[in-house]
Amino acid sequence: MKRILFILALWLLTIPVFSQNVIHAGSDGKSWTIFTRSAVYQLRVENDEVRMVNYGNKTLAEKTSRPLGAEIPVRGGYVTSAPLLEVIFPDGVRDIELTCQMYEIINIDGYETLKITQNDKYYPLEVISYITSIPEYDLIEKWVEVRNTGRRGNIKVENLLSGSVFLPKDAYELTHYAGVWGYEFTPQTTKLTPGTKTLQTKDFKSYGSSSFLVRPEGETDPYSGKVWFGSVKYSGNWRIDFEKSFNGPVQIVGGMNFWDQELNLKPGSSFTTPHIVFGYTEQGTEGVTHNLTSYIREKLLPPAHREKIRPVLYNSWYATTFNVNEEHQLALAQTAKEIGVEMFVIDDGWFKGRVNDRAGLGDWTVDTNKFPNGLQPMIEKINALGLDFGIWIEPEMVNPNSDLYRAHPDWVFHFPNRQRHEGRNQLILNLAREDVWQYLYQSFYKLLKENNIKFIKWDMNKAMADPGFPSAPLDEQRAVRIKYMENLYRLVETLRKDFPDVWFENCSSGGGRIDMAMNSRFDFNWTSDNTDPVDRIFIQDSYLTLFPASTMISWVTHEDWHRQNPPLEFKFDVCMAGVLGVGYDITKWSDTEKDIAKTKIARYKEIRHTVQTGMPYRLVSPYGNNRSILQFVNKDQSESIVFVYHLAEYPNNMTSGTQRSPAVQLRGLLPGTQYTIEGLEGVYSGDYLMKTGIEIPLRGSFKSGIYRIIKQ
Ligand code: DGJ
Repeated sequence: MKRILFILALWLLTIPVFSQNVIHAGSDGKSWTIFTRSAVYQLRVENDEVRMVNYGNKTLAEKTSRPLGAEIPVRGGYVTSAPLLEVIFPDGVRDIELTCQMYEIINIDGYETLKITQNDKYYPLEVISYITSIPEYDLIEKWVEVRNTGRRGNIKVENLLSGSVFLPKDAYELTHYAGVWGYEFTPQTTKLTPGTKTLQTKDFKSYGSSSFLVRPEGETDPYSGKVWFGSVKYSGNWRIDFEKSFNGPVQIVGGMNFWDQELNLKPGSSFTTPHIVFGYTEQGTEGVTHNLTSYIREKLLPPAHREKIRPVLYNSWYATTFNVNEEHQLALAQTAKEIGVEMFVIDDGWFKGRVNDRAGLGDWTVDTNKFPNGLQPMIEKINALGLDFGIWIEPEMVNPNSDLYRAHPDWVFHFPNRQRHEGRNQLILNLAREDVWQYLYQSFYKLLKENNIKFIKWDMNKAMADPGFPSAPLDEQRAVRIKYMENLYRLVETLRKDFPDVWFENCSSGGGRIDMAMNSRFDFNWTSDNTDPVDRIFIQDSYLTLFPASTMISWVTHEDWHRQNPPLEFKFDVCMAGVLGVGYDITKWSDTEKDIAKTKIARYKEIRHTVQTGMPYRLVSPYGNNRSILQFVNKDQSESIVFVYHLAEYPNNMTSGTQRSPAVQLRGLLPGTQYTIEGLEGVYSGDYLMKTGIEIPLRGSFKSGIYRIIKQ
């Protein structure tokens, strides 16, 4: 008996924890209802095909009637929506006719997933659609697998996106985030009028984001109101179409961008798309932020460091650019230690031939002219100071002036008879090639094995051009970008597995490649090369709408893009709303500057737990207000940190007569609990702070304050 009980217990342990019955199938097996915390997503079979019926408020589940569109809109028949799938069969037929075959509710990583298989009525094409409910974050995740089940002939896939949803007929506004180098994630809001609005990348670079928010027209309350939102989990070229028919619903369909891309599905082979995340909340933009922040922090970030508090960093780029050597690095590290830094990172310039940006990329051995003893002896000295050591790499690139390129000029993307387009004097290695993957893997394995490196900053500074792979079979040549991304992910994942203690930072000339797929492989992002604190306030406000503060590295530097000469204290306060770093040449700092840094870093260490793990509240947006107020509240609501930044002398309708800025109502506190505010008199109830609010005692431009609110 004991033995049976033991076996039973073991068996129970192997059953994954199901997120309790959030997907329901109708008794006829032809309709499905998927719940998240606030939303419902419904589908049913009509005329043999799976159609999407409704996506919205959970309580309206039963009241739905006509389907809004196909779950997998295809090219075929009348063109009533944007197709998710477009193929050409071996005989030249281009239309698809799907019919539903079967469904299953399966478990993936503890989450219920609806898996529906449809086949073409005639041709050997199987299309499997997956929808996972992630109820606690009000998200569903979709992806598609297509399979050539035939014995002869390729099926040419001309377009294959990850998922589509239709919103009920209404007038909507779209908010998305666009940008250029130095001005990442600038919010854009536009009406969705009849026609198609496409967001996309075509060159592997995006200083914006595939994250989007769609709200009924005119709804701007940050804390309430319906929002449909989402993001493509892909770092290669992505595309999202928002298509509004003249008198029908709005369709959102997105995934990989098949611009200049095709896949040839050989008999018996299949292809699975990246995932797209969709969400629905009735808590306005704040609901979106809270769902995305929690989801990324609790489920997406690499598990090895997910729960860890992020260290205070020093990075040498702004201090030295390419001009690095052991003596100066050690001097920087010495001062970094004095002011309280925990991780010392050497940026670009340390490897063979890297005297400037015209040489060296690809040759990943140390430059013995600059470091005659190699790296490890220097690292040991840095470690002896009590600092961990990190290093910059740019694996995907090569300078034509490098040993690697001289030996393998065919290892870069290129077309014969065409110019090789350099950017920052570099070309992109063709990571679709296995020999390139092996070279990179071995180079960085060796670097990490031979040196006590605890942090990698992984950069990528050139946009994709000339995506040719002339020696590949012709029918695979337009799929090279897909293979590149697969291999890039494999490279990061393999190195992380080999070196589980190492932190990884994602960088692409600043924030040129930040997305959920990167967030599942990297611990942090370098948000922007623009470290001017004023610009940074705007960039950070948008970034923190979509991503957690624990992923946002922010350095205090001498950069002052608008010649405003903001004080050092202000710069620190801006960077303390994320993962704090320092980038000055701190060997040149006066004692006063060092003292400011010491005090600020010590303060950051006191508050970083709440900043990095708490819930963010964007109380006052810098856009249009001339001040920005951000609040973080820890999990048990016993501590909150409020960051206030003034961008003008009299911000936010403060008049020179009264010099009183409007009170700000805090959020996320416990109404019946008493709180004190460090630096201010009095004891306040959470209710008072959230309803009446507090007037922040701050005057003047480029003044900032950090207020710590503590439960009594
Ligand atoms: C671009 C990055 O965004 C910078 O932070 C720095 O690492 C340089 N590359 C180094 O070349």
